[in-house]
Amino acid sequence: MKKTVLLFTLSLSFLFSSVSFAFGPDGDSSENVIKYRQYVMTAMSNHFKALKFLATGRISQPDQWLPHARSMVDMANMIESAFPPESDFGDTEAKEEIWENKGDFNQKALKLIKASETMVRLIKANERDKALEQIKEISNTCKACHKKYREL
Ligand code: HEC
Repeated sequence: MKKTVLLFTLSLSFLFSSVSFAFGPDGDSSENVIKYRQYVMTAMSNHFKALKFLATGRISQPDQWLPHARSMVDMANMIESAFPPESDFGDTEAKEEIWENKGDFNQKALKLIKASETMVRLIKANERDKALEQIKEISNTCKACHKKYREL
């Protein structure tokens, strides 16, 4: 008897979650889309923090500047598709305004991509004296987007 009730509840909740959260061309649930993009943001943020440690001389691993900077470019390239329509439903800090101004939002993501690419170029050219200045540039692109599009 208990098992039946449990099964019934489980299937009901499954049905409920798949009906209310399923969306988008790929059928990913908005709950998972939100979690996933938060993982991507956090991953990017951690690469950025690691890079700051290197650039400020708190850690001396000269070979690891480049992989962190490259990863930032990779993560930044994921931002645009991480915010599909209707994915503002759930435990998210993303503001409605993103989908009302998706073009501007994508532009802001592009600025971060460009700033991170510049960082990659500086490291490759061994112009590490300019890295701190570039970190500020990158940081400004994060702030510009968060200020407008993230609930803080
Ligand atoms: C184009 C816009 C945009 C840019 C650029 C951007 N972010 Fe975000 N970020 C967001 C939005 C929107 C959220 C909220 C996502 C959510 O909760 O669904 C977010 C969330 C985060 C989070 C919280 C993730 C979590 O687990 O909830 C961190 C950390 C973060 N961003 C760091 C950064 C850093 C560091 C940069 C720059 C290197 C950056 N972001 C650049 C839009 C942006």
